Formats: sequence, C-alpha cells, structure tokens
Amino acid sequence: MNKKTIEIRKQFLHFFHKKKHKIIPGSSLIPQNDSSLLFTNAGMNQFKDIFLGNNKSYQYSKIATAQYCLRTGGKHNDLENVGYSSRHHTFFEMLGNFSFGDYFKKKAILYSWELLTSKKWFALPKDNFLITVYKTDEETYDIWANVIGIPLNRIILIGNKTEYPDTSDNFWQMGDTGPCGPCTEIFYNIKNNLSSKKNKNSENIIENYIEIWNIVFMQFNRINDHSLLRLPNPSVDTGMGLERISSIINDVSSNYDIDIFQILIKDIAKITNTTNLKNKSLYIIADHIRACYFMIAENILPSNENRGYVLRRIIRRAVRHGYLLGVKTIFLYKLVTSVNKSMNINNIHLLSKKENIENILKVEEIKFNSTLERGLQLLDSKIKTVIDNTLDGEIVFYLYDTFGFPIDLTEEVCREHNIRIDYLGFKKNMDVQKNRSREKKIFNTNYSIMNHTENTSIFVGYNTYKVKSFIENIFINGKSETYISSGEKGIILLKNTPFYPESGGQVGDIGIIHNKTGTFKVEDTKKNGKIILHIGILLSGMLEVKTTVFSEINTQFRSSIKKNHSAIHLLSAALKKKLGNHVYQNGSLVTPDYIRFDFFHNIPIPLTIIQEIEQFVNQLIRRNILIKTEIINFKDAKKRNITFLSNKKYDKYVRTVSINHYSNELCGGTHTDRTGDIGFFKIKSERSISSNIHRVEAITGRKALDSIHIQEKNIYEICTLLKTNPNFLKTTFEKITLKQKNLEKNISELKEKNMIIIINELTKKITKINHVILLIDTLNNQNTKTLRNIMDRLKSKFKYAIIILANIINNKVTLIVGITKNLTQSIQANQIMHIILKKINGKGGGKVDIAEGGSIYIQKLPEALSNIKIWINSIL
Ligand code: ALA
Repeated sequence: MNKKTIEIRKQFLHFFHKKKHKIIPGSSLIPQNDSSLLFTNAGMNQFKDIFLGNNKSYQYSKIATAQYCLRTGGKHNDLENVGYSSRHHTFFEMLGNFSFGDYFKKKAILYSWELLTSKKWFALPKDNFLITVYKTDEETYDIWANVIGIPLNRIILIGNKTEYPDTSDNFWQMGDTGPCGPCTEIFYNIKNNLSSKKNKNSENIIENYIEIWNIVFMQFNRINDHSLLRLPNPSVDTGMGLERISSIINDVSSNYDIDIFQILIKDIAKITNTTNLKNKSLYIIADHIRACYFMIAENILPSNENRGYVLRRIIRRAVRHGYLLGVKTIFLYKLVTSVNKSMNINNIHLLSKKENIENILKVEEIKFNSTLERGLQLLDSKIKTVIDNTLDGEIVFYLYDTFGFPIDLTEEVCREHNIRIDYLGFKKNMDVQKNRSREKKIFNTNYSIMNHTENTSIFVGYNTYKVKSFIENIFINGKSETYISSGEKGIILLKNTPFYPESGGQVGDIGIIHNKTGTFKVEDTKKNGKIILHIGILLSGMLEVKTTVFSEINTQFRSSIKKNHSAIHLLSAALKKKLGNHVYQNGSLVTPDYIRFDFFHNIPIPLTIIQEIEQFVNQLIRRNILIKTEIINFKDAKKRNITFLSNKKYDKYVRTVSINHYSNELCGGTHTDRTGDIGFFKIKSERSISSNIHRVEAITGRKALDSIHIQEKNIYEICTLLKTNPNFLKTTFEKITLKQKNLEKNISELKEKNMIIIINELTKKITKINHVILLIDTLNNQNTKTLRNIMDRLKSKFKYAIIILANIINNKVTLIVGITKNLTQSIQANQIMHIILKKINGKGGGKVDIAEGGSIYIQKLPEALSNIKIWINSIL
C-alpha cells in the first residue's frame, strides 16, 4: 500500500472523531506547570492533571490528538538508539486517544483493532499481530482472546522485570512520578509484512515483531518508588508512533523509508554529496534536524543547561555525522527549508521562525566546527592508547570542557571502536568544576514559605496610588505574627494594594504602609501565586493584623517605571521594524532608572541602525499616541496580531497594551497614558551577550537628557585639554595620533642606531680561545629587551661563541648569557649563569643556549666575571 504519512495522521484523527472524540491540538514540547519532565514525551502529558483528578471541570471525556514528542532524556530516552535502530527517534509524532473516566479496556481495545484491521481504515492483515498483556490483567487477556479472537500463542503475559521488581514493559509510567498503569501493547510481524522477505517460519520469533501501539489503562498515581495511589477514574491513554505505523502501512523496512523522511534524506544527501542513501549518518542527521527545528521553534537555545544542553548535544551529534560524511562547512541550517517541505508545514507561526532557526543553527555550527576537528584528532590519538578498553574520565571531561564534546558524542565515537568510557572519572571531574562554580553563586531569598496562607491580594494600583487597606497577615522570619514593631523587618499582606509586585520584568513598587500606630517602609513588592508581598521594615510604632492602614506607593518611582515600561514596548516595536520579524524578546527588565531588553538576533548591529531605532522610538514619542489597555478574552487576543509566548499558559482573560498599530502586547505592567509622557528615549548600550542574544540598555526622560549632558561635558573637557573645539575634535585627534606614530618611529630608529653602536663596541672586545669567540662585558642602563636583542644579534654573527653580558641599572645587575647551539654539548649557558650567580648571591636560570639572572650585589660582579673567564678557559 502506498499512503502518505500525513494521510495516515488524518485518518487516525478522523476515525476517533467518528467515535465521538474531541480532536484537539497537541501541546507544546515544553511541559506546562510540570517540573517533573524536561520535554513532552507522550500524548498524555497535557492531560496529566485530568488523569490525576486535579482538573474536575474539564469539558471533554474523550479526546484524540497528534502530539509532537521528544524522547531525549529522563525515563524515555531514545537519543542513543537513533541511527542504530530504524524505528527510534528523538523527535516523533504520537497519535493517541484518551478516555477520562469514559470508556475503559474493552472499547479501547475494540477501537484499536477496528482502526488497524478494518478494510475501511488501515486494513492490516489480522494474522500479523501479537499482543502483550500485563501479567495479572485477566480482563484484558480475556478481551483479546475471546472478544477479538487472537490465538492464545500470540498473546504474551509480561510480568515485572526481576532485577527491577517495580517495573515492567507492560506497566507504563510517564516519569518517576505521576499517572501510570498496566498496559497492553500491540506488536506487528514485519517479516510477514515485508513482501520481499517473507518468512513463513517466523511466527514465533519475537524479534520479527515490533511494537506499534501502546494502550495504557491509567489506574494509579505513582508517588515514589514504592507507593501507588489509585486514581479517581480509571482512564485510557494510548500512543502510536506516526512514523512507525506509516512504515508498516507502507510496507517498508525502516521508518526512514517513509515519505517524510525520504524527502529529507534526499536533501541531506544532496547537500553532503552522499550517494549511499542508506548511510547511517544520513538517518541521524534527518532525525536530529527535526528535533532541533521544533526545539528552537519553542524558543529553546543551545546552552550548557537543561533543555538548551539537550539541544546542543543533538546539534553537535548531527554536525559530527556531517563531518563523517565529509562536510567541513556549516550545513545543518540549510535543512530547515527541507523540514518545512517534508512535513508539509503550513502553520504561519512556525514558518515565520524559519530564519531564526537557521541563524541559531548557523551560530552553533560555527562554534562547534572550530573545535570539532581538533577534538576528534585528540580523541582518536587517545583511543589508540587506551588501556582496559576504557577511555579515561579525565579525557572525556577535557573533551567536554575544552572542545565542547557532549559526553554522548565521545561515547558514540568510542562505541564505534568497541571502547567504553569511564563515567565515574568524568563525573568526578565534572563535580569538581561544579563545586568551584557553586561557591561563587549567591542565593536569593526564597519566599515559598508564604505558600501556607490562604489569602489572595487585589491589585488596584494602575491609576490609584494611595488606598485605604486592611492588613491580612504579617510575616516575620517566615512566621505569621499578629503585629510588627519598630525596627523589625517583615512582610505585610494587604487585601487591596496599589503596590505593583515584580513581574513581567517590571520591578516591584516601593512606598509606605501606615496608620496612626506605625509606619512600614515597603522596600520591594513581590508576588507569590495570588498574594502580593510587601517587603520592608517598620520605621516607627507598630502595626497589627486585621487593622486598617493607608498604603501609598512612591509616585516618583512609579512614574519613572511607567515611562520606562512604555518605552520598552516602543523599543520592541522599533527593533522588529529595523532588524526584522525574527526579533523576539528573551527577557526584559524595567526599573525606574533604566530598561534592559534581551532579544534573539545573531549578527552585529551597526551604529547607524541603532540610531535609526532611537529615531523611530523618539518619533513615536513625539506623536504622543494614546496607550490603550484592555482586558479581553484570551481567545480574542489570539485573533489579534499580538505578541504572546507560545509555550506559556495564559489566563482566560488577559490584559493587552496597545500603541496604535505599532505595538500590541499582552502585559500586566504599568504604563503612561500617552507616548509623549516618556519625553525622550536614549539607547545607552547595545551588545551581544551570547551567541544569539543581544542586549539593549536604554534610558528615558530626565535621565536620558542627563546622560547627554554628561557626554557633552566630557567632550568639552577633552577639547579644553587639546585646545580645540568639538567641531575640530576629530581632526585634532587624528593629527595627534599621526604625530605620535612619527615619534614612535623616530624612537625606534634611534634605538636601532644605538644598538648598532653598542654591538660594534662589543665586537671590538672579543677574545678567542681556539676557534671559540669569548665576549664578557658590562653595559650600563640598558633595558632587558635591548639586552636580549643585542645578545640575539651577537649570537647570529658568530659560528662558535660564548657571550656574557652584564648590565648595571638602578644599582642592580642583570645578566644574560648566550652560547651558540653547536657549543652547548661542551658548555651550557645555564651552567655558566649558575656559577656567576653563586658568586654574586643572585637569582636566575635558563636553558643550555640562553640564560638570564640578576643580583643586587654589584660589587662582587668584576671578580665573578674574571673567575668565569678562567673557568671557561679551563673547560675549552
Ligand atoms: N503514554 C503511552 C506511551 O507513551 C501511551 O506509550
């Protein structure tokens, strides 16, 4: 059969749509609100809370999805298998149907059987299937045997693995904790299917079967290694790899033979000049470029931590396989177009990221290419000298630290030579380095202690700066107290507050909370969940919980913040306009003094463009445009051209801040009423802070003008010193530089002349012992560099020479001894130096042909020099 992979995905979803399932999109590759997972590794991840019963208001009880998954770490990791197995991928699509307390075992199995075997659907021959069932799951066994009618010799019961009593291939767990349950897996006999390799006797050979669909009966929540809690509603979670089922339906021997991979592989072969389309490296690159594409599309950047490091490892492994194919220049970025083509991507949001994905890949490739070859050469030489078939952990670490070789890359190269790597040694070296950097870190205060309070705070301070409030709670040293007294530091919780808590890059407000009994100075405001924490110190008197107070923010502080926050929106718009749409925010800081904006961009920005950006922002300020804030439904927000983060979960209602058509953002921050209120905008600095990220720091209003005044003052002072005016500053400076160059040239000519005179004088003083030239002399006030120069020139003048030069400078003697190379067998410079230094209590040393030393005892020098002359005579 010949069926397009996207057609298979469509059919799967259509089938479950007909079975009254709601079809919804897969979730982000970055799991939301779930720190137990690095990446989405199964279709069920986005439903974790529903399985656990934490989200009771979920509107659907039957769902089907096609979910992008990454299996590159944690419980489910296929990175190492990629390329060696034709069925595993780092990135793949999982087709799944889910029931939340709706149907259970029987229907789930019937659905899967119908889809796989019905002539109307996938039409796979029934005899080719084999089923595994969890050992104690009699109900499932009975359904397969008696309802579906699978012959008993093709139903296998699988128990726990003996070495790990709590694990079984037929007990599926999302991670170390979370929803889990027994499963039944559907296997398919590929040997029977493959028309070219029919093998009638293969029926019972388990290797002929590959797993195609896993049906999990979610019944438990794993709390830890030894404890399982029963879930409120028995549910169903299934997963079938799209690429795998496509290879089965299309009757090809490898996932890499299906349409979507073939398009990609052919493009890679073309770019890398590879003729053998079955080359393992082509497979690895094809797999990895897809993973890279979708990771970067989710704003993950190559780095040395967490997700960024997984991405870096995948890119670097792909680059090495390019290198194995003979590619010496960057090439991965060229495949982004091919991923779009092969996967038929037509999502505008994804397509708009193309240039950015290419740029990020380019930078990472360039970086790794610069060390790859040298690293591989080193690794090669070390592999040759390996003892015990194990590569030393220190070398593995050195390759990691100096050449950027991820451990699995080194391991892969070693595996190709049947060599292991010393993990423990690597870890030891790694730990030493980590400890070193940990010592340097300063930890921030943790406010999680507040979690036990039930309070929520209401922020009322967009336009109101002083309100009458009520103290809900007071915390001192993390403990709830009934009052706070003078001099004590603490945290106050209010019912209503005008204080904006630090969020979205905007720093928290400062101000005071007071009543007749006391005054509390708010030094910072932060948020913890739904509560707003006023952090500070009680200046006088005392304040009690459950009393009324006035809370008042510092309006000057807030006013500066408002200007700066609105300016950052204009800056963001200006960057997009002047640099391109790939510019998106990677972090921001809004303080009353300045703003900082980090964004993705990877080429230098010329000063002229910086000035254009500045011009544009100031132009919008001068237009005095209304800054409009609105609370709207998130769904409506999505319809507008609004900047929002694809991997962030937003509330049902969101706040938008728009400045005409120039800027439209989801933002909770505080803003000026009109752009004109910002006054004036000035970029203070722009630089690249890592390979893909630029940082702009800018100031507004009075501060911006002040900074220009400071610059003017500096220029004025320089002009006074140079006796010129700003108009002529550049030409004056050029003249001075030229003058200085000429002076330096004159000095070096004079020095050269002087040296020639000295050398001529010295040449007159040489004596001869047999054919050997001997020169011993004392100079005055020469610097070390000149002395070395004189020595070099003298040595090159003679074939056989021993030269000893002393130099008296600042009541000290410095010495240099040189011997022509052909004499060093019989007499050595460091030996002579040693004898002289002994006589004059000096310090120094050197090599056989050149040695240097010095001493403060100059009075002993003449005797030392005449002694050495006698000694040399005796040697020669
Ligand atoms: N969640 C199950 C799996 O990933 C279906 O295999």
